[in-house]
Amino acid sequence: MIFFHSKTNTFYLQGKNVSYVFRKDEYGFLNHLYFGKKVACGEDLSFVYRPCDRGFSPNFDGAENRSFSLDTMPNEYPVAGLGDYRRPAVMVRTRDGARQTDFRYIDHSVETDAGAKGLPHVRGGETLFVRLRDDRYALTLELYYTVWDDSDAVVRRAALRNDGTDSVHVLNLCSFSIDLPDADYQSLRLFGRPCSERAPVWQDCAPGICELSSGQRGSSSHYLNPFLALKRKNTDETHGEVYGFQLVYSGSFSLSAEYTQYGGLRVRGGIDPLGFDWLLQSGEKFETPESVLVYSDGGLGGMSHCFHSLCRKHLMNPDFAFRKRPVLVNSWEAVYFDFDEKKLFHLIELAANAGMDMFVLDDGWFTCRNDDNGGLGDWEEDLSKLPCGLKGISDKCRSLNMLFGLWFEPEMVSENSKLFRVHPEWCLKNPERGFVRGRNQIVLDFCNPQVVDYVYGKMEDIIAKNGISYVKWDMNRYLADLYSPYLPPERQSEVQHRYVLGVYQLASRLNRRFPDLLMEGCSGGGGRFDAGMLNYFPQIWTSDNTDAFARAKIQYGTSLCYPPSAMTAHVSVCPNHQTGRTSGLDARYAVASSCIFGYELDLTKLSQSELAQIKEQITAYKRDADFVMNGDFYRLSEGDVYAFAQVSCDKSRAYVTGITGLKQANDKFRFLKIYGLDCEKKYRVRETGQTMSGRVLENIGLPLPQAEGDFCPVCYHLDGQPTSDEST
Ligand code: GLA
Repeated sequence: MIFFHSKTNTFYLQGKNVSYVFRKDEYGFLNHLYFGKKVACGEDLSFVYRPCDRGFSPNFDGAENRSFSLDTMPNEYPVAGLGDYRRPAVMVRTRDGARQTDFRYIDHSVETDAGAKGLPHVRGGETLFVRLRDDRYALTLELYYTVWDDSDAVVRRAALRNDGTDSVHVLNLCSFSIDLPDADYQSLRLFGRPCSERAPVWQDCAPGICELSSGQRGSSSHYLNPFLALKRKNTDETHGEVYGFQLVYSGSFSLSAEYTQYGGLRVRGGIDPLGFDWLLQSGEKFETPESVLVYSDGGLGGMSHCFHSLCRKHLMNPDFAFRKRPVLVNSWEAVYFDFDEKKLFHLIELAANAGMDMFVLDDGWFTCRNDDNGGLGDWEEDLSKLPCGLKGISDKCRSLNMLFGLWFEPEMVSENSKLFRVHPEWCLKNPERGFVRGRNQIVLDFCNPQVVDYVYGKMEDIIAKNGISYVKWDMNRYLADLYSPYLPPERQSEVQHRYVLGVYQLASRLNRRFPDLLMEGCSGGGGRFDAGMLNYFPQIWTSDNTDAFARAKIQYGTSLCYPPSAMTAHVSVCPNHQTGRTSGLDARYAVASSCIFGYELDLTKLSQSELAQIKEQITAYKRDADFVMNGDFYRLSEGDVYAFAQVSCDKSRAYVTGITGLKQANDKFRFLKIYGLDCEKKYRVRETGQTMSGRVLENIGLPLPQAEGDFCPVCYHLDGQPTSDEST
C-alpha cells in the first residue's frame, strides 16, 4: 500500500511486514527516513532527520541557515555538486561542462505495473512515481518505488528525461540509493570464478567504500554477483536484522556501501559508471534497470524467502515459475564433441527407459564444431555427424515420448564462419586494433539491431522446424573490445549497456514467439546468474562444477537470493570431471534433487544396476519435485554438512537433502536442525521411522548417522502426522 501524508509531506510504502518512508522537505529535497519493520502509516518520522551545523558540510544555495546541508541529510537520491561529499546517485555532464544537478520535487502519482521498457522487470504491485526537476537544465528525474501487500521487498528504479534543447551526458544514474542511519553491519558478497561460483564472503563495514562490481566484463559474471547484503553482527540464519540489495540486471554493475563521515551507511547500485557515458539528446529518456531492496528481521533465511518469493511470483515467467520442469539428460559431460547419430540414439533410448522427459543436445551439433575453436554463428546442423539432421533427433525423441532440447551460443561468432566472412563488421571490435579473443571466439555486436534480427531469424527457424521444446542459451566469454562499429564515436561509451539491451530483446522476442519454449540461461556454468536473466529464463545452469560436494556449496551461496526452482543441477559421472573426486550416485542425487534436476553422463557406459538406480531416482524426483517448485526453502548446516530443507507451504511435509564433508574418524554425534516446520506438529522421518515434533527437530535436530566415508548423502522425508483433532 502507498500512502502520502500531506500534512507532513511524507510517503509511506507499506509491504507485508516492512515500511519504507521518506519525505519531501521545505526545499523540495527528498529525505530518506526509514526502511525496516512495519510502522503505522502516518506516524510522523520527520524527527529522524536532524539538521545541524557540522563544520565543513556546506550549505546549498537558499539554505535557511548553516544547519541545512545535503552532506548531513539522509538523501533519497543524492546529487553531485551541491555539497554532499558522499557518492552521488546521479552524475550528468551538461552542455557547459558542469556536473552539478539540482533536482527538486514537482509531483507524484501512484501507478500499477510500471516496469521500464526493454528491461527486465518485476510484475504487479503498486508503484509510487515521484518526479523531480532541475529547472536550470530542463532535466526531469523520475523515481519509481514498487511494493506488494505480500512481500517485504521494495523495487526501485530511476529515469532521466532531457526536456531541454541541448544534449547532456549521463555519467551515472543509479537504480537506487539509500542512506541508512548507522553502519554497524557486516557486508556479504557472493564471490567466485568459473566452476566455483557464489561463495559467501563476509566483511565488517569500515570507513570508506566497499564496492562490488563485475568489472568491465559486460556481464553480471562469475566474479561478484549483483547482490549485496548487510547484516547485524549477531544475525544468523533464522534471527536478526538483514538488508538485501539485488540488481535486476545482467551487465556490468556496481553495488556499494559507503561508511560515511558521521557513521551512516550509503548503499547504492546500478549500471557500473566506470566508462559509462550515455548521450541523452533533447526529448530522450534514459531508464535504469530495477533493483530489489529487502529488509528482514528473520535472519538470512528470512531475507532469502523474500527474494525467492518475489522472484517466483513476480519476476519469472508465470507460465513456468511453479510448473514442474522436464527431467533431462544433457549430452555435454556425456560425450562432449565426440558423438554421431548412433551414439545419440543410444543415449536417447536409455534415457527414455530410465523415465527421463527430455534429451538435450549440447554443443557440437553444428558445422565446423569438433572442438571449441570454431563453428559459432552459422547455426547449420552438421549432417556429416547427424545425417538425419536435428529433425531426425527430434523425431527419435518424440517416438519415445521425450522432448528435444538444443544448445545455442547466440551472442558469439567464430572467425571461421560464413557469417564472419560476410559481416566482419557485426562484431565488437575497435577498427584500430586486433581482436581480443576468448575461447577463440568473438562477441557479436548486439548493439546493432540487424545482428539481433539475424540471430533471431536463425534460432526461430531451427526451433520451429525441429520441434524444439527447450533452449540452453550459453555465453562462453566476457566482453573485452568495447567498441561497436554500428555506433558513432560519441556513443561508444554506451556499448556495454546497449549490448545487454540487445540480449534482452532477443530473449523476449523468443519468449513471445514460442510461449511454451523453456529457456535455460548459462554462461560457462553460472557466469550470468542474475535476476535480469530470470525474467526471460525460468532456470539457469548454476555451475559447470558438477562435483556433488562442491555443487552443494555453490547451491548454498546461490540460494541466498535465488530460489532453487531457478537453479539447474545434474548428476554426472565419477571421478568427477572438474575435481576428480568420487562420491556415490546417491549423494550426487541428494544434492541435485534439491534443484531443477537432470543427468549429464554417458548412460551407455553405466552398469545395469546403475541404470536401475537412476530409474528409481527419477521416479523419486518426480514424486518430490513439488517441494522444489512450490515449497519454502531453508538452508541447514552442521559443520561441513551442507543441507537444505524444502517444506510444503502448509508445513505438512518436508524434503531434506544434502551431503556430508570429509569423514572424521571417531566423529562427534551430529544433529541437523531443521527449520521451517510446524513446531506443534509431529513428523515421521520416513527413512528411520522416528517420530519427532517440529519443535524438537528445530531445536535439537535430526540425529545424523555416523558417515560411512566422505561425501555421504543426506536425504530424508518428513511426513507430518495428523494431530489427534485431525485424526478424529
Ligand atoms: C559451457 C557450458 C557447458 C557446456 C559448454 C559447451 O561451458 O557451461 O555446460 O554447454 O559450454 O561448450
